[in-house]
Amino acid sequence: MAVFQPSPKDFPELKNDTFLRAARGEELEHIPVWCMRQAGRYLPEFRESRAGKDFFETCRSPEACCELTLQVSTPLRRFSFDAAIIFSDILVVPQAMGMEVQMSPGKGPTFPEPLKEPEDLQRLKTKVDVWSELDYVFKAITLTRHRIEGKVPLIGFTGAPWTLMSYMIEGGGSTTHSKAKRWLYRYPEASHKLLSQLTDVIVEYLLGQVQAGAQALQVFESHTGCLGPVEFKEFSLPYLRDIARRVKDQIKESGLDNVPMIVFAKDGHYGLEDLSESGYEVVGLDWTIDPRSARIRTGGKVSLQGNMDPCALYATKERISEIVKRMLEGFGTKGYIANLGHGLYPDMDPENVGAFVEAVHTHSRQLINR
Ligand code: CP3
Repeated sequence: MAVFQPSPKDFPELKNDTFLRAARGEELEHIPVWCMRQAGRYLPEFRESRAGKDFFETCRSPEACCELTLQVSTPLRRFSFDAAIIFSDILVVPQAMGMEVQMSPGKGPTFPEPLKEPEDLQRLKTKVDVWSELDYVFKAITLTRHRIEGKVPLIGFTGAPWTLMSYMIEGGGSTTHSKAKRWLYRYPEASHKLLSQLTDVIVEYLLGQVQAGAQALQVFESHTGCLGPVEFKEFSLPYLRDIARRVKDQIKESGLDNVPMIVFAKDGHYGLEDLSESGYEVVGLDWTIDPRSARIRTGGKVSLQGNMDPCALYATKERISEIVKRMLEGFGTKGYIANLGHGLYPDMDPENVGAFVEAVHTHSRQLINR
């Protein structure tokens, strides 16, 4: 029997390109929508597929990642999302650099041996072979691009350097991020060294994802909120800029088509103007930013993505519809991708996620045809 060997060639033709067109600021018939953490524990079929399996083992199985991605993102199988995001995790990058990371149920990601002092940087691999270390992600992307049959585009992603650095030093989730921030104030040089090392790996990782078939890329700077504007400008923004510039240059050099890049700096409202000039086509927003003021502050330079409070999904379907309508009126219909302001939580009702998606499609069609 012939074995299906997915190759990053001859992908099925894309049928719904609203997400890509919105990222480029083009006119559309409806506003595209997807959700961060759309493949997650709020779905019974996700819990069933993941049951009893180690989280990172699942991440290392291209077949499992493909199935988890398709479960939720293939229109008709669950919701009419306009984009899929590959099932994986941001912490595969520290693993590729030589760090151990476990996912403890109920506790979240844990590093048994986090970085404590600058000498610990010696524990990281000096040269990371991204192509072989992370080839399971590339294989998952290629397989998913084939099996999604062009129904919607596939988004690849990475954590940004500061967010990954903070995990590597904190050893897990944290409310203060004080161990990682201690490095910024006490060891700025070692901090820059680590951030540069991470940036080099991330650039190759994103390029590999595009070569494997990713049609857009999102960079998650989830821990922007614990930085102030000065630290953001020194320890986050330059690396975010560097990633966009180098990925775009290398895509061009490799003869690949440009893909839109999204930067999501959660709680980084103070940096919105800078983010809109950082080389990304799309800026993702959390729910603390007012849509109209985000438009003014970004001056039409970028498309915007976001930003309904995920907790609004606890409301009734009628209320969700009203909240969505107000959000769309605030952002306007051009250069806009609807999303939540952060990921879905495990106790959310899948029906209300469906109501969110339908409300975006229905209200946006009405607004566009007005
Ligand atoms: O649907 C999607 O969005 C794609 C998959 C995706 C996951 N993680 C799967 C996942 C994406 C894009 C991520 C990114 C990620 N991972 C981020 C950045 C986004 C953000 O939330 O700010 C961060 C900070 C992580 C690290 C991480 N991984 C955390 C904090 C957790 C939650 C731990 C917990 O117990 O609540 C994870 C685990 C994780 N990653 C889950 C999923 C679906 C849930 C655990 C499981 O499936 O067993």
